[in-house]
Parts: sequence; structure tokens; C-alpha cells
Amino acid sequence: MDPGIYKIIHFVGLIVLFLGIGSLMTSDPKKPASFRLPAMIHGIGLLLILVSGFGLQAKLKLGFPIWMISKLVILLALGGSIALIKRRALPPIVIYILVIFLGSIAAYLGFSNSMVLRP
Ligand code: HEM
Repeated sequence: MDPGIYKIIHFVGLIVLFLGIGSLMTSDPKKPASFRLPAMIHGIGLLLILVSGFGLQAKLKLGFPIWMISKLVILLALGGSIALIKRRALPPIVIYILVIFLGSIAAYLGFSNSMVLRP
């Protein structure tokens, strides 16, 4: 498959993941059923990002550079954010800032190591 297609899937995955996180943030913790759909959206986003990320890695023959491992760790943290959100472990504003910060770091790592934009 064309790497460009993987990149589009990567970006669609990002949209879906952050939509899921946003929806989780506004779900009622007292109603577990209200978490079901947002949790599914969150999971689908994670999967799309992971699959397309590894698709890009294979197509562009990138090996396992440290920036990609860092992105994997960030993806893991964004996946784990669901537990934090469900338990209301931190004030919402802290979770918003944390998630935006992590997403921004991952986007910067993708952009600054891009074979396409910075060959
Ligand atoms: C929340 C997590 C992530 C964000 C926000 C993110 C963001 C991005 C962005 C913005 C790009 C585009 C760079 C460009 O302009 O060309 C990109 C490319 C890429 N991402 Fe991710 N990404 C994430 C997770 C991952 C993961 C987990 C992997 C690996 C499994 C991965 C592997 C890649 C690869 C291989 C590229 C292509 C780099 C290139 O063009 O040479 N990403 N990512």
C-alpha cells in the first residue's frame, strides 16, 4: 500500500483517538453505559494509529529509532489515560493539558523525523 494511505489512516486515527478522549471526559462516571461508546472510539483510534504507524515504519524501512519508541510510549500513556479519566483521578483541566501536551510531543517527533517533509 502507498505510504501516503498509511499516513492518512494515521491522521484519521488521531482524530478518532482525541474524539474518544474528549467524549470520555464528558461521560458521567456514575453511568458506566455512557462510557461504552467513547471507550470504543478511543480504542479504535489507538488501533488505527498503531497499525498505520507500523505500516509507515515498514514501508519507509525506518527500523526502530528512539523517536518511534518514544511515540509508542506516548501512545501507551494516551491509552492509559482512559483509567485516569474514568476515576476522575485528576482535575479535568490537568487531564486536558496532559493529553494535549503528549499529543503535541508525538506530533513534533513525527514531523521532525519525517522522511517526506525532511528527507
Ligand atoms: C499519539 C500518538 C502519535 C501522534 C500524535 C503522531 C503524529 C504523527 C505525525 C503528525 C506524523 C506526520 C509527520 C509528517 O508530517 O510527515 C507522523 C508520522 C509517522 N508516525 Fe506517528 N504519531 C503518533 C504515534 C505513532 C506511533 C505509535 C508510531 C509507531 C508505531 C508512529 C509512527 C510514525 C511513522 C513511522 C511516521 C512517518 C514518518 C515519516 O514520514 O518518515 N506514530 N506521526
